[in-house]
Amino acid sequence: MRNRDESGTAASPISSLEERNKGMKIREMVPQDLEELLPMEQASSLAPWSRQMFLDELAHPRASCFVLTVEDLSGPVLTGFICFRDVGKESELLNLTVHARYRRQGVGRRLMQFYLDRCAAQGIERSHLEVNVSNEAALRLYRSFSYEQVGLRKRFYQGSVDALLLTKRI
Ligand SMILES: CC(C)(COP(=O)(O)OP(=O)(O)OC[C@H]1O[C@@H](n2cnc3c(N)ncnc32)[C@H](O)[C@@H]1OP(=O)(O)O)[C@@H](O)C(=O)NCCC(=O)NCCS
Repeated sequence: MRNRDESGTAASPISSLEERNKGMKIREMVPQDLEELLPMEQASSLAPWSRQMFLDELAHPRASCFVLTVEDLSGPVLTGFICFRDVGKESELLNLTVHARYRRQGVGRRLMQFYLDRCAAQGIERSHLEVNVSNEAALRLYRSFSYEQVGLRKRFYQGSVDALLLTKRI
């Protein structure tokens, strides 16, 4: 997975956990989501996926992308997304991003739980991912789902930042 910044944890307009969870929905990503999603990606990553990269994922037979929306006064708002590829009994988590305004409110955890439940239902035995060594938020999230470090990729991001290779038995 790509390098990320940690900026922006502003409060959400959505007030309580109960209210928030009630309105959370996960559905498949469609090309029409990209207008809303690309700025989120741009603001969250030092090496953001381009429109074409998302379109390639959406068209790839082994790839899956889902978005999480919450109900706001104006209707559903796209707050985060997850992309992964399954090959045989293995899955690779390629992208997990939550809009800065909606972080620390359980969106990332909800997307991860959805992904892992789906892996289990599909008979996937292992999930793999790469994460910037200094991405504390993501590392904590993955460790809370019992991902374990199995490797270190030196200078993996932009030729300078190391990546940890994490894996989890489903
Ligand atoms: C990493 C990311 C997806 C987490 O999403 P989120 O919706 O904020 O996460 P959640 O609110 O569901 O938090 C789940 C757990 O993650 C960890 N966590 C999340 N943000 C954290 C932060 N800023 N500092 C420390 N731990 C954090 C905590 O363990 C948290 O559990 P807790 O709230 O019970 O303490 C989000 O910060 C993000 O989009 N970052 C930029 C993109 C990125 O780095 N993606 C991962 C690439 S490998």
